[in-house]
Amino acid sequence: MPSTNDEKSAVMEQLRVDLGGRSYDILIGRGLRDQLAADLAARGEGSVCAVVADKNTAPLFGEPLVEELRRFGVRAGMYVIEPGEESKCLATFEWLLHEFKALGLKRHDLVVSVGGGVVGDVSGFAAGCYMRGVDYIQFPTTLLSQVDSSVGGKVAVNLGSTKNYCGLFNQPRQVYLDVSVLKSLPEREVKSGLGEVCKYALMADAELYGFLMENADAILALDDEIMPKVIAWCCHIKSEVVAEDERETTGIRALLNYGHTFGHALEEITDFALSHGEAVAYGMKAAGLLSNKMGILSDEEYEMHHALLSRFGLADKRLHLDVDRFMEAMNADKKAGTDTLRYILASHIGVVEVREDVPLELVQEVVEWLVG
Ligand code: GLY
Repeated sequence: MPSTNDEKSAVMEQLRVDLGGRSYDILIGRGLRDQLAADLAARGEGSVCAVVADKNTAPLFGEPLVEELRRFGVRAGMYVIEPGEESKCLATFEWLLHEFKALGLKRHDLVVSVGGGVVGDVSGFAAGCYMRGVDYIQFPTTLLSQVDSSVGGKVAVNLGSTKNYCGLFNQPRQVYLDVSVLKSLPEREVKSGLGEVCKYALMADAELYGFLMENADAILALDDEIMPKVIAWCCHIKSEVVAEDERETTGIRALLNYGHTFGHALEEITDFALSHGEAVAYGMKAAGLLSNKMGILSDEEYEMHHALLSRFGLADKRLHLDVDRFMEAMNADKKAGTDTLRYILASHIGVVEVREDVPLELVQEVVEWLVG
């Protein structure tokens, strides 16, 4: 097998997302780029593959993958978008469709997403619409996309500054989680991913909470032994939830949006100056206080909730934002119910529930505390 990758390819964990005919594997390991190129080439002679990356991930991971694919005889095209949330829009989506057509991509060919959540979302959405759907593979390169957005098939673009208003449930064919890519991430990007990692502990798993508290220093240092375990743990929780409620119809999957009602509003009113993971961390901080004020999360567990975010240096700055604009943005969130807003609140560490009976004054108090 040709290799331009310094590291020997090794799968450390394999998880299955169990969705009948749409089931797929999540491979977790090191140096998985080689394995990805070999797996794609094994699809047969004359296959075509559109690799989508952004300007940061293209030189590091996208272009080497395209070179490897070409050595294997795959006709591969490289499509590079601007990094950042602004690229998650209909213009990028349309550009990709034209590029796929120019490459000669056909129904049995493949799109490979090499990047963080923005690349994965816009390219997965384009793959789902091009010729009524071609397969796509996720090769996520940020911690946040590894533990959350690359798994579960939610792909979308924003409409203006409103998050994810236009998209699909479109499951990938496979997800390659290469933990070696984490070392290339800026600290802020790592922290952003840790926001989602903490979310899994707070919404679903008290044991993960204990593990994160105990191993926080090693996790912050991206320890080679601990990180695959943390990523696999989060992906296991996510894949179980997705298998149970793929299209968010029973309400189980909606629980993965813990912290997101406040978080999406924060992203929107800061024009995405806060990253998704940062905003979700502030969102969970607010949701924790709201849960405590509603009398469903005890003072002791509220302190524990707060301690986890602090341990990872999350949501620890004062925000000064317009409270009215914040309240308006929350009302516009698409997960709003009919007349009443629905909040995901914590009743214990690792247990959350949906509540529709939250008084507006309490929400206002929490928002003033968070951003006023
Ligand atoms: N990020 C939430 C979900 O995938 O449902």
